[in-house]
Amino acid sequence: LACDKDQGRKRATLGEVEGILLPSTTVNNWDQIQKFKAKDDDLLICTYPKSGTTWTQEIVDMIEQNGDVEKCQRSVIHLRHPFIEWSLLPQPSGVDQANTMPSPRILKTHLPSQLLPPSFWESTCKIIYVARNAKDCMVSYYHFQRMSQTLPEPGTWEEYFENFMNGKVSCGPWYDHVKGWWKAKDKHQILFLFYEDMKENPKREIQKVMKFMGKNLDEMILDKIVQETSFEKMKENPMINRSTVPKTIMDQSISPFMRKGIVGDWKNHFTVAQNEKFNNDYKKKMEGTSLTFRMEI
Ligand SMILES: *[C@@H]1O[C@H](CO)[C@@H](O)[C@H](O)[C@H]1NC(C)=O
Repeated sequence: LACDKDQGRKRATLGEVEGILLPSTTVNNWDQIQKFKAKDDDLLICTYPKSGTTWTQEIVDMIEQNGDVEKCQRSVIHLRHPFIEWSLLPQPSGVDQANTMPSPRILKTHLPSQLLPPSFWESTCKIIYVARNAKDCMVSYYHFQRMSQTLPEPGTWEEYFENFMNGKVSCGPWYDHVKGWWKAKDKHQILFLFYEDMKENPKREIQKVMKFMGKNLDEMILDKIVQETSFEKMKENPMINRSTVPKTIMDQSISPFMRKGIVGDWKNHFTVAQNEKFNNDYKKKMEGTSLTFRMEI
């Protein structure tokens, strides 16, 4: 981010790695990111942006801390779990943060599977992937880009709609991201979750995460985790809701970081014509995969 005399901080720009758009600062640090050394006892939380990343981070952290709320308040969530491709001065990069963190580490990434640092595949680390239906993801990403100065301006909703379908957003096409990770689960230890399932029955999905992490927490703790990780609770949790992030990075007066957290908000944004266009395009892009999504619950 460069400073501009008239506007204060300028919007970030995007660059490209192997045809995938990513923040320029990430592209400029690509060598360090690709050389990142994963460890066998790492747990990687992976998502396409706006698919329940922070939610999953808090669930995983609560399980790791055996439901101890105070321990989960030890720092803001984006500092608890290094975001491996994050590279934005003056903060240390995600790789630097991870390298100074004691094991077992919980890490975060939005990278498509083909861009993940190779050491993850060579390790026996566990990976949790969370996928969210494309329509809600698009709407959420649009509002996020309106307020986050770490990404370019999204333009109008009509423009964004086209850009999202064409994969011209940070982290590349949603379609290839979810399909790539869906395939990856056949060759690596990956728990593949769906945002819609988590909304529908959080306890069932949290139990899956717990088992995957090799933990066995009793019913009472589980119920507490379900409560603490509800959207309403998380929205009011200053360790989660980004209230400490300066306005020059996230302007929550434009749109809050914790916005709605629901399934089906796309219906409030998509016109009938857009929906038809989207569905036709979606059918082509998702042809042949066994991966299916629910656009409403
Ligand atoms: C974050 O949580 C704090 C404490 O509950 C609250 O005062 C604040 O309004 C919340 N901020 C946002 C942006 O939701």
